[in-house]
Amino acid sequence: MENFFRLVDHEDFFSRRCVWVNGPVIVGAGPSGLATAACLREQGVPFMVLERADCIASLWQKRTYDRLKLHLPKQFCQLPKLPFPEDFPEYPTKKQFIEYLESYARHFEINPRFNECVQSARYDETSGLWRVKTVSTAGSTRTEVEYICKWLVVATGENAECAMPEIKGLSEFKGEIIHACDYKSGESFRGKNVLVVGCGNSGMELSLDLCNHNASPSMVVRSSVHVLPREVFGKSTFELAVLLMQWIPLWLVDKLLLILAWLVVGNIEKYGLKRPSTGPFELKNTQGKTPVLDIGTLEKIRSGGIDVIPGIKRFYNREVELVNGKKLDIDAVVLATGYRSNVPSWLQEGEFFSKNGFPKRPFPHGWKGNTGLYAVGFTRRGLSGASSDAMKIAQDIGNVWKHETKQKKQRTTACHR
Ligand SMILES: Cc1cc2nc3c(=O)[nH]c(=O)nc-3n(C[C@H](O)[C@H](O)[C@H](O)COP(=O)(O)OP(=O)(O)OC[C@H]3O[C@@H](n4cnc5c(N)ncnc54)[C@H](O)[C@@H]3O)c2cc1C
Ligand SMILES: NC(=O)c1ccc[n+]([C@@H]2O[C@H](COP(=O)([O-])OP(=O)(O)OC[C@H]3O[C@@H](n4cnc5c(N)ncnc54)[C@H](OP(=O)(O)O)[C@@H]3O)[C@@H](O)[C@H]2O)c1
Repeated sequence: MENFFRLVDHEDFFSRRCVWVNGPVIVGAGPSGLATAACLREQGVPFMVLERADCIASLWQKRTYDRLKLHLPKQFCQLPKLPFPEDFPEYPTKKQFIEYLESYARHFEINPRFNECVQSARYDETSGLWRVKTVSTAGSTRTEVEYICKWLVVATGENAECAMPEIKGLSEFKGEIIHACDYKSGESFRGKNVLVVGCGNSGMELSLDLCNHNASPSMVVRSSVHVLPREVFGKSTFELAVLLMQWIPLWLVDKLLLILAWLVVGNIEKYGLKRPSTGPFELKNTQGKTPVLDIGTLEKIRSGGIDVIPGIKRFYNREVELVNGKKLDIDAVVLATGYRSNVPSWLQEGEFFSKNGFPKRPFPHGWKGNTGLYAVGFTRRGLSGASSDAMKIAQDIGNVWKHETKQKKQRTTACHR
């Protein structure tokens, strides 16, 4: 038997069940959910992980491109309590990262309930419990289950859904349109004119990949973007920033980074890549906009392999018109327009989470709400942010769990006397 027992376990003719979970329910089996589960396991707290996909880390396994590697050095990406294998390179590949996550789940005996998509979760004031409803997406029968628990950990991620932009005429465009989450490699775009909408880390890397596969990418940069070299003078830019932040204020770290970036990559504004007026890390902290870490795209832009173009006015049959009035013939569109949280679509709660699906309280306070509600992986601090949330959550629940278990034992002993 798993770490729960059933209060009611009858299947009615709608195939609906009710399950009592002895411990927290964790929604999402990505790195954040796995990290929380592992830390709870160490605390001796039972849990249940619900995952809509049929595997762990579905973002990494199903919705990322082939050439993806971690952009940050490995020490910033490993999850709590189990480091990466020593022979992993400084920047592990997507395949290595997935292998690590699979072994992480095995090591901590994390067995999520797959194909269970959480449809709604609400706190029941009367009972003081969470009611989490799922629909099973496996097989042909639709199974609904209601999980009842004291704690709810939201681990559905900042990238749960693709952000699809509304651009005039896009539905009239006759060529292929895909979101970056469905892009695997530039192989199928060989020889084609491809419009890449967006210049975040995805847009930049997909443009590079397209160029490497002899396609002709044009990358839309509608506003401004911070591009930093992944490394400065052989040291990871991110690592350097983290180090500097311990000694000097953020604005000064930003200034130094921009000077270093200028020394390494030169003036990028002349290629159409305007820098925001706010520094890269301040922008990340205030607006959640991640700076791009360059891994070769700038070189291709300089050599003319990738065209940087301004915002889009509208699409036609096989053409796109830009805000500067220029028209381009294009064969395909890749929307590297980012992702969004899906929390508002299922969590019936308005105090802790805001309408954009992120906790209202800024870092470092956004991991714990009232009534047993927690959030992991919503601080826009990547995998290291998720690890730090996971440890705090497990500690917090673990303390209550141990206290309650002790009291129960004492009561039981008293009864037997
Ligand atoms: C292309 C790409 C590359 C990235 N590279 C890095 C990197 O190098 N370093 C870094 O730190 N970060 C990186 N990130 C950020 C990324 O978000 C994190 O690395 C990490 O995946 C976050 O983990 P998570 O568990 O919070 O979210 P996710 O990995 O998105 O996992 C959330 C899980 O919740 C499940 N889920 C969602 N909704 C429901 C529901 N209603 N019911 C049940 N299950 C649900 C999803 O299926 C998913 O499995 C990258 C992101 C992208 C898109
Ligand atoms: N290897 C890696 O580590 C790696 C690789 C890829 C992604 N990631 C991470 O994954 C997360 C998502 O990255 P992302 O690049 O997919 O998304 P993102 O950072 O949110 O970038 C989205 C881009 O799309 C643009 N955009 C949105 N709507 C548009 C429209 N209608 N017209 C023109 N441009 C539009 C945005 O422009 P504006 O800025 O003007 O809004 C922005 O440039 C980030 O945290 C990122 O760091 C990591």
